[in-house]
Amino acid sequence: MLAGKLSFLLGICSLAVGTILQNGQVRITNYPDTKINISSYDFRTYDADATELSYKGRWDSKKISWWSAPGLVFGFTGQTVAITFGEHTINSTLIGYRIAGLDWTFTNVTAGATHLLVSPETPGVNETQPINPLTFELRVTNWEYGVQIDKVHVGAGESLVKIPAYNRTIEFIGDSLSAGMYTSYEGLSSFAYGVGAGLGDTEYSVIAFPGICVSDQNCWGHARGQVHQWFYTSDMSSRALSIYGDEPEQWDFSKQETTPNIVVINLGTNDNNAHNNVTTATYVDAYTKLIEGVHGKYPKAQVIVMQLWMGFSRTGNSYTQDLGYEQELKDIVAYFNSDEYLSAPKTWDGTTNTTATLDAPSEKFVHYFSTRGILQHNDIGPQFHPTDVGAIKVASHLSQFIKLTFGWDLVATGPEIFHDTTYWNDEMYY
Ligand SMILES: *[C@@H]1O[C@H](CO)[C@@H](O)[C@H](O)[C@H]1NC(C)=O
Ligand SMILES: *[C@@H]1O[C@H](CO)[C@@H](O)[C@H](O)[C@H]1NC(C)=O
Ligand SMILES: *[C@@H]1O[C@H](CO)[C@@H](O)[C@H](O)[C@H]1NC(C)=O
Ligand SMILES: *[C@@H]1O[C@H](CO)[C@@H](O)[C@H](O)[C@H]1NC(C)=O
Ligand SMILES: *[C@@H]1O[C@H](CO)[C@@H](O)[C@H](O)[C@H]1NC(C)=O
Ligand SMILES: *[C@@H]1O[C@H](CO)[C@@H](O)[C@H](O)[C@H]1NC(C)=O
Repeated sequence: MLAGKLSFLLGICSLAVGTILQNGQVRITNYPDTKINISSYDFRTYDADATELSYKGRWDSKKISWWSAPGLVFGFTGQTVAITFGEHTINSTLIGYRIAGLDWTFTNVTAGATHLLVSPETPGVNETQPINPLTFELRVTNWEYGVQIDKVHVGAGESLVKIPAYNRTIEFIGDSLSAGMYTSYEGLSSFAYGVGAGLGDTEYSVIAFPGICVSDQNCWGHARGQVHQWFYTSDMSSRALSIYGDEPEQWDFSKQETTPNIVVINLGTNDNNAHNNVTTATYVDAYTKLIEGVHGKYPKAQVIVMQLWMGFSRTGNSYTQDLGYEQELKDIVAYFNSDEYLSAPKTWDGTTNTTATLDAPSEKFVHYFSTRGILQHNDIGPQFHPTDVGAIKVASHLSQFIKLTFGWDLVATGPEIFHDTTYWNDEMYY
């Protein structure tokens, strides 16, 4: 039963950029064309490895973006920012970008082209309060597409300014549900982004890719699972395979700008699909090793295991939620909180496929987040993924769970998080 229903979770998408259908209607995507001819501008130009540039999420040594909602953040003086995108950019990739705390705007970018993203006409560009220096942020919306940063330009005589990282960091490890598949702005509408950005003053990365299993076996055509791929810079996209084949760059955890304090895992929906032939024993083993891997790389991080929501079925005269690996996930959490584990904590290294036992005992670090009662059947769209509203509900509850469990205050008190979600009623009597 699940197999037919969930076959849309696969997330094998072609690289052809097509029309977006939204609730059955063509979505208007007349985003501004920001491409310019650089020879008509007088710029100061920085290379992609300039120390003032802060890359968020995973970017490789060639400054190519991977996974969901990877970002670039920097401060600048003057009124101009332009970016030249490298040859490994997928043409038409949609990016969201903004200055300081103003709303996201969107544009499609092109390989080899220079795009003018901030100009003297950009609203807010001359304001110096409350955010100073003026910051620029870019995020890639789609996981299968991606960009390569080649050069960053500011006005002649102006400069880039390094923006220090926030001291709270959260990382998500997931599949299409965390990557934002089938939400309006994909990565920028996902529940993972909603938590990461929505907590405020928090660094976040979303290591999620549609169709991926935690088990290291072929799921929906993706050769490797997160128990392996999380240790690598690139994801399971055809773009990654075309550049790196089966020899992707290992992710250098020691070079991360900040170390996650919290890691949220939502994996198993694809393992649970009969199509992928994952046994329960394989799932439990892979999930356990992934947590051991996180504990090895980030020994101080708290890990949140999310209960899976598998969608809803019409049953008789109502709806019921389908669950997956219900007891297995609880057992995994119990194992990490048991004396057996805490007296001899293990770490796993997916690049060498080895397990090590830590000498020092561990503190408890694995938590269970129940998603029961957050989503109802109409929060899941016809493509079996949360709607924008569904994603916001999950993000809101998970943010509150993090506040209550770890004492992280919610400090995003104004700037937009989710774009295009302002639904309202203008009429008092209708
Ligand atoms: C850019 O401008 C220069 C100088 O005006 C011109 O020679 C060149 O052909 C232009 N390039 C494109 C792609 O239009
Ligand atoms: C991407 O767009 C550029 C500029 O229009 C073009 O030269 C290039 O061939 C395109 N790349 C692909 C793969 O279509
Ligand atoms: C811009 O990106 C959106 C989302 O991928 C796509 O639907 C649209 O066709 C693109 N527009 C252009 C002009 O490439
Ligand atoms: C910013 O100031 C410049 C003058 O330096 C002016 O030309 C421009 O219109 C101003 N931009 C905005 C958005 O107010
Ligand atoms: C971040 O810094 C604030 C203020 O110094 C401090 O209260 C908080 O505990 C820090 N948070 C983390 C996760 O280190
Ligand atoms: C799953 O197993 C069945 C039966 O052994 C096989 O026919 C099918 O090809 C397998 N599917 C995948 C995706 O490996």
